[in-house]
Amino acid sequence: MSENRQILVTSALPYANGSIHIGHLVEYIQTDIWVRFQKMRGNQCTYVCASDAHGSAIMLRAEKEGVTPEQLIDNVRREHTTDFADFLVEFDNFHSTHSEENRELSESIYLALRNAGHIADRAVTQYYDPDKGMFLADRFIKGTCPKCGAADQYGDNCEKCGATYSPTELKDPRSAISGAVPVLKESQHFFFKLPNFDATLKQWTRGGALQDAVANKIAEWLDAGLQEWDISRDAPYFGFEIPGEPGKYFYVWVDAPIGYMASFKNLCARRPELDFDAYWKKDSSAELYHFIGKDIVNFHALFWPAMLEGAGYRKPTALNVHGFLTVDGQKMSKSRGTFIKARTYLDHLNPEYLRYYYASKLGRGVDDLDLNLEDFVQKVNSDLVGKVVNIASRCAGFIHKGNGGVLVAENAAPELTAAFTAAAPGIAEAYENRDFARAMREIMALADRANAWIAEQAPWALNKQEGKQAEVQAICATGINLFRQLVIFLKPVLPKLAEAAEAFLNVAPLTWAQHQDQLANHSLNAFSPLMTRIESAKIDAMVEASKEDLASGAPAAAPTGNGELTKEPVAAEINFDAFAAVDLRIALIEKCEFVEGADKLLRLSLDIGDEKRNVFSGIKSAYPDPSKLEGRLTLYVANLAPRKMKFGVSEGMVLAAGPGGEEIYLLSPDSGAKPGQRVK
Ligand code: MSP
Ligand code: ZN
Repeated sequence: MSENRQILVTSALPYANGSIHIGHLVEYIQTDIWVRFQKMRGNQCTYVCASDAHGSAIMLRAEKEGVTPEQLIDNVRREHTTDFADFLVEFDNFHSTHSEENRELSESIYLALRNAGHIADRAVTQYYDPDKGMFLADRFIKGTCPKCGAADQYGDNCEKCGATYSPTELKDPRSAISGAVPVLKESQHFFFKLPNFDATLKQWTRGGALQDAVANKIAEWLDAGLQEWDISRDAPYFGFEIPGEPGKYFYVWVDAPIGYMASFKNLCARRPELDFDAYWKKDSSAELYHFIGKDIVNFHALFWPAMLEGAGYRKPTALNVHGFLTVDGQKMSKSRGTFIKARTYLDHLNPEYLRYYYASKLGRGVDDLDLNLEDFVQKVNSDLVGKVVNIASRCAGFIHKGNGGVLVAENAAPELTAAFTAAAPGIAEAYENRDFARAMREIMALADRANAWIAEQAPWALNKQEGKQAEVQAICATGINLFRQLVIFLKPVLPKLAEAAEAFLNVAPLTWAQHQDQLANHSLNAFSPLMTRIESAKIDAMVEASKEDLASGAPAAAPTGNGELTKEPVAAEINFDAFAAVDLRIALIEKCEFVEGADKLLRLSLDIGDEKRNVFSGIKSAYPDPSKLEGRLTLYVANLAPRKMKFGVSEGMVLAAGPGGEEIYLLSPDSGAKPGQRVK
């Protein structure tokens, strides 16, 4: 295999409106391991990603939080990049779909498609929210299922009976945004003529770019016949306006994959050795891989290659599709505490534990993979701590005490060393094929052999005998060299452990080819434990904390709203006018009571000087006896738009701080403050 390949790799662009969780991490960890392997092999491998920043969900979420979409996506982007970095996911670039590069590329690809006759337009009739003044995507319409009569079902399918239908079939439809009764309204939409690409797609999807299971699924769709794809959305929409079509925006799934190109283009501007055209031109010899989950295969295996083809670009070399994560055999669940956010995990555990566990479970297929928490503890402790790290810790002491930390040149087990070297191509092949499970099995089998050999040699026993020092040193030097080979093999999965091992071994960053070398007459640095065991108590605490994440209502003043961020970055800067626009006042809580049927809410009757206000606040978990709040002064936002809730209208909000649960602290002024006084 020639090892100077040019490889561009992507992971799916995470939506910029929620936190990264351990399900997402399957993908980012899988991709990162593959990329690190390619880099260790000396290939020019580039890993790009970005925030998927557009769409109505992001627009509405920003509105709900009282920030601009730009502020929301900035905050979330910062949170995501910190999470990824802490999980040792090392992008060459993490950009945003809301960027100039992406706007230019989206426009030019659209225009190329239009000029080539691949765009159609026609009127579409859809539900429209007359209060909100916007068309409603299916998931923003709720009503009664036409099949089974279940109330409160989404516009496209029923969670009760599983029926799928069109929103117009729903009984008693309501806008999930405003509660208004939607009306049917017509509007002009733009369509991408996917059927024009039938032949291209048949060829590409059968040409080795897809795993068998994925290719079979796509073949079903292709056989059923391709449909034109609606690529436009009406204002108000957070996205890019379609050139020449005021008030019409690209649907988020149009500019999202173009975001892969945009992120790479943005990186090319800083990295002279990378040439955008060389990677994306039609006959490019560079390789292009998209790592994605099985839920977004249609976008990547149909629309995306067709768009690329139609606009004159190359198509992906392959899609690498993975399955979904389950925890203890079930879908991640907020109530069971298995919907674990990246940050919650990091608050309790070492990221490399999860990287190793996922590696040990990931194969080439699209099957779901299970994080069994007991197995996780057992496997990490037994493999990483018990087998790999153990080799070094068994040998290091004798070398430091017996030979001043210097490895002797003698190899006490040349056959074992040769077996390790001989295993390398198979391990590399497994990495290359994304069969990480096989790679981990082979590496652990080698670790077992090394441990068995050391146990047999028993340097600790020899060390007590007269005249056996040379033998002890040869055994331990051999052990350390075997350990060094294992570290090379594991480095794509465990980069931090490898870094600590490199410091101990006193060597420069290890590359794959160096598995053939041996350290001889070489000084080691002091040994410190490279990894500690997982304590089960940490797992319990993480699961508990994940339950809390959900239970905590919204401390009203949290900058990002609903307590989704465990670590809250400082929000985007605002100017004084923006601050002064908030009508912040002292309010007297005259009455405070439970709300029937609401788990988290208290109803507060406020005296704000010349007026009374009614507010619902999600602080019940911290104030189990609401009457205790009566007579107390607090801070109140008087000019927040009223919000219609199931229990009535909430007028403004009271301010509190804290992570949630029992830890919500209502803010109070110093004594002497009067209801109605404004905060300045
Ligand atoms: N924004 C789109 C992708 C656009 S790519 C041009 C999106 N974002 S996502 O945040 O919902 O998901 C990002 C990736 O994480 C997807 O590939 C998705 O399949 C994957 N996963 C999300 N939840 C997952 C699990 N529970 N398990 C495994 N992968 C999961 O889709
Ligand atoms: Zn139903």
